[in-house]
Amino acid sequence: MKILLLCLFCLLVKLNGFSQIVAGPMLGQVELRDARIWIELTPAVKSIQLAYLKKGQAKWNSLPYKGVLGGTYNPIQFIIANLEPNTTYQYRFVIDGKAARQTGEFTTKDLWQWRKPAPDFSFLTGSCSYVNEPVYDRHGKPYGGDSSIFETMAKEKAAFTLWLGDNWYYREVDFYSASGLQYRAHRDRSQPVLQPLLKAMPHYAIWDDHDYGPNDADKSFVLKKESREIFKKYWSNPSYGENEEGIYTMVSYADVDIFMMDDRWFRSSNEMETTIDGKPNGAKSMWGAQEMEWLKNALLTSKATFKLIATGNQTLNLKSSSESLQDYPTEFNELLSFLHLEKINGVLFLTGDRHHSEVIKYNRAGTYPLYDITNSPLTSGVSKVTGTKEEANPARIPGTLVEVQNYSRISVSGPAKQRQLKVEFLSVKGERLASWSINENDLKTP
Ligand SMILES: [Fe+2]
Repeated sequence: MKILLLCLFCLLVKLNGFSQIVAGPMLGQVELRDARIWIELTPAVKSIQLAYLKKGQAKWNSLPYKGVLGGTYNPIQFIIANLEPNTTYQYRFVIDGKAARQTGEFTTKDLWQWRKPAPDFSFLTGSCSYVNEPVYDRHGKPYGGDSSIFETMAKEKAAFTLWLGDNWYYREVDFYSASGLQYRAHRDRSQPVLQPLLKAMPHYAIWDDHDYGPNDADKSFVLKKESREIFKKYWSNPSYGENEEGIYTMVSYADVDIFMMDDRWFRSSNEMETTIDGKPNGAKSMWGAQEMEWLKNALLTSKATFKLIATGNQTLNLKSSSESLQDYPTEFNELLSFLHLEKINGVLFLTGDRHHSEVIKYNRAGTYPLYDITNSPLTSGVSKVTGTKEEANPARIPGTLVEVQNYSRISVSGPAKQRQLKVEFLSVKGERLASWSINENDLKTP
């Protein structure tokens, strides 16, 4: 009897399209007038349409997918255009002529500009997500931890999730071939525990070494072009670098701009000398000239209350011996001089990679201090600074060190000219582990 029921269930699942969907749907960028929806299909699928309507209305609009299907991996994206702001839409799929059971909804951004105050909102962020695959993993204790953190995140009422790099981990079996790289992105993305989060809110991402290539990978990685193509296929950001190079871009929400940096594509080797004859080595760069030029102009143009520079590695932690921006002193000095000279207000850094979370303060002479909010790890192993020379770090805001799996909720609220940004580091179960807040007036050039 049990076997009969199981067979019946399998048949129902097959009929309803679940067996044709490998992963997703995932919400990509959702704007005022358009929305992106990502989904990965099995090789057997021959056609797919996205149907959508305004919630409460009866007439479905249909958007057929015109690209190629039937490959080994079929991650595809729909862009729905001509939507109305601040409106909820429902969507579903028609796969090979049959309505799939998978449905979802999204709400476009509100057109608040010139009409009302910037809305209060929160978003989620985190880095370092490792999914175990024992046959290919290192022996010993599994590196991947409790993935139910994604179920907790899916229940949050947040505007979006920002993935801060090491979003999956390429390993030895993957990073010598393009097919290996794609296999890893595909396998991690298809984990059942991740699906509710993918569907619950829009997702944006930057990469760090592990979802770009090997550990500590740099510009010399020979499959960087292939890696970039895979990143583009598995995320749904507004754009990916410039001149077919890099993955940096920017997203905005309410009065916050997030400058999403690429710390790998142009990166010099970590091994390159940091200084020559006591002076910063000008040949050693992390973001590179093209990206730095873009960042400076984007910061100057931004009118946002809070300008968040998101990048894989820590930026301001002088005590760290891990990868960080200060190991690239020419760029570190260049950025800090630029921020000071141009009086750029509201700057904060968002970083990952470290396998612990903390907030680092960096004092500057004659202007407001900078802060680096480090968020890590989502599911990969914890790396404790407790018991190391970094434990007593005078730059760390007391009470912000978190050395267990965690994600962050960042909330922006309050009236104009008094906007507050609150950071909460949250456990696998969503319990608050640490928090820190700052007012926009504490990030102003005197
Ligand atoms: Fe990393």
